[in-house]
Amino acid sequence: MAKKPETKQEVSTTGHSWDGIEEYNNPLPRWWLWTLYLCIIWGIGYTIAYPAWPMINGATKGVLGYSTRAEVAADIAAVEAQNEAINTKLAGTELTEISADPELNGYAQSAGAAVFKTWCAQCHGSGAAGAKGYPNLLDNDWLWGGDIEAIHTTISHGVRNETDDDAHYSEMPAFGEMLENEEIDQVVNYVLSLSGDAPDAALAEAGAVVFEDNCAVCHMEDGTGDRSQGAPNLADAIWLYGGDFDTVKETVTYSRFGVMPNWNERLTEAQVRAVATYVHSLGGGE
Ligand code: HEC
Ligand code: HEC
Repeated sequence: MAKKPETKQEVSTTGHSWDGIEEYNNPLPRWWLWTLYLCIIWGIGYTIAYPAWPMINGATKGVLGYSTRAEVAADIAAVEAQNEAINTKLAGTELTEISADPELNGYAQSAGAAVFKTWCAQCHGSGAAGAKGYPNLLDNDWLWGGDIEAIHTTISHGVRNETDDDAHYSEMPAFGEMLENEEIDQVVNYVLSLSGDAPDAALAEAGAVVFEDNCAVCHMEDGTGDRSQGAPNLADAIWLYGGDFDTVKETVTYSRFGVMPNWNERLTEAQVRAVATYVHSLGGGE
């Protein structure tokens, strides 16, 4: 069957021409135009109904009064209402008795893990293994004490911060200003000898005297430290700042000043107790 010859309609062209190809000036398809108009109407309606137009302070609110922030706040309020009873119980139970109550303990563990991920992981690491200057909370080496009450106090008030008068406080002097360089080399060798081999045994021997005179008040005669002053155990081969000669020398010369924030203002008592319970259960709890 022969094709019907197409009747050629003469449509004007736009006058544009690319390599000899010209563009017809056809009207836009009806369906396309209607879709466009519908989109415009929908868009205007949407900006009236929902927050949309930016203004100098914030944005238009929209007649529906919807905001994602309000939705999140409502979700949070719902969860808080749900947990209110158990939070009150957690805040009112003796710290030492929390772990004996399976329901309370289970709640404290999971709430505490969530608090830890949000507020503590950036310093102590997401697995709580710590980093240079930030103690490992998994081991049983504690600066300030590892029973649930001591952990709770440390978390609640923090260490050497300026925002809580009850924060733990102590200050190791910078011995660079008090001892000769040779004495520092001696005492650093002595400190290293407490948990392994000193690079120089003769210096280490002389360092025992320097240690006795300058360090034993805080780190104790045998170097095992003093939790009431947050003075680390120097004899256990666990190092907060590092145990190579240069790092220990740097610590002794300039001292350190580890700061831990207090959490009693930022978190509720139930949250502090939850995270204390969580940390206590990590392996080093006493
Ligand atoms: C800004 C960093 C930072 C954050 C955030 C932080 N900590 Fe600490 N934390 C430290 C430092 C530094 C120390 C060691 C202080 C010192 O030298 O005595 C410490 C010490 C501790 C100790 C005492 C360890 C010991 O050996 O006695 C505990 C427990 C602890 N943190 C728990 C927490 C918990 C739980 C959170 C979250 C609620 C948290 N920390 C958040 C920096 C931080
Ligand atoms: C007034 C108490 C005090 C005296 C005295 C003192 N220290 Fe310390 N020392 C501390 C405290 C507290 C820390 C923890 C510092 C911190 O975390 O900011 C510390 C930390 C250290 C560390 C770091 C340990 C680690 O795990 O990284 C070393 C090493 C050390 N002291 C050695 C000495 C030596 C050597 C002397 C004597 C020359 C000395 N200290 C005297 C309180 C003291």
